Amino acid sequence: MPSISNALQTTIGRKILTGITGVFLTLFLVAHLAGNLTLFSPDPDAFNLYAHFLHELGPLLWIAEIILVVLFLAHAYIGISIYRRRKQSRPENYNYYNSKGGPSKQNAASKTMIFTGIIILLFVILHVMHFKYHLFSPETYMTTINGEEMVDLTRHVETAFHNIWIVLGYTAVMVLIGFHLKHGVWSAFVSLGASNPKRLPVIYTVGGIVAVLLSVGFLFIPIYIYLRHLFGG
Ligand code: HEM
Repeated sequence: MPSISNALQTTIGRKILTGITGVFLTLFLVAHLAGNLTLFSPDPDAFNLYAHFLHELGPLLWIAEIILVVLFLAHAYIGISIYRRRKQSRPENYNYYNSKGGPSKQNAASKTMIFTGIIILLFVILHVMHFKYHLFSPETYMTTINGEEMVDLTRHVETAFHNIWIVLGYTAVMVLIGFHLKHGVWSAFVSLGASNPKRLPVIYTVGGIVAVLLSVGFLFIPIYIYLRHLFGG
């Protein structure tokens, strides 16, 4: 059984590790989007109650958060190391190549993985400072639901998305996340062994669908909240 440090020594090992960490990060995004969509539930307290339920998990939530941070950092670190080694060993203009990890298709999304990845990492740092630690808000808004006091995350999110600059910033980053996922999902499948040439177009389409669904799903939130505010909803 090869160790993680052995896996990091080879191109295929690094691609498998980015693939595995990428799959878990994508699953986090699916769960995060599903939770965020409770903002549009007919019950105006649904989002706060959902977040409160997570906070009440205490140590279980901390463990999940530590795993998430490790996944993010490992994915970023290995992704950067793949990019640096490829830069050192390959010519600039290649369109299709066969790496030890299987065939890899080059396009705008694949060539900008390092750029979109770094922007997403910076976004996540600012996003967590903003929404989890409320560092850019004058105070942590609180509310009482069913006699229980809890953080008013709905107000934090809505206040943020009444600001056109924040909405535009989120919109730009969500499009980049779509690009990153488009290539990332495909690449993860191939790195994890799905390299049968007949299945590649299907995998490529699946990657595109996952990317569009997540990107549009996240995009919808700031844009809808901003327009609702603008038109007095
Ligand atoms: C419009 C889209 C989004 C909204 C409204 C949103 C909202 C939130 C909120 C309110 C929190 C704080 C949760 C809490 O305190 O319990 C949070 C945490 C977080 N968000 Fe988002 N988010 C969005 C998109 C994203 C995206 C695209 C990513 C990743 C690329 C992301 C990554 C995270 C992470 C890592 C946390 C910290 C989770 C934790 O520590 O429990 N979010 N988000």
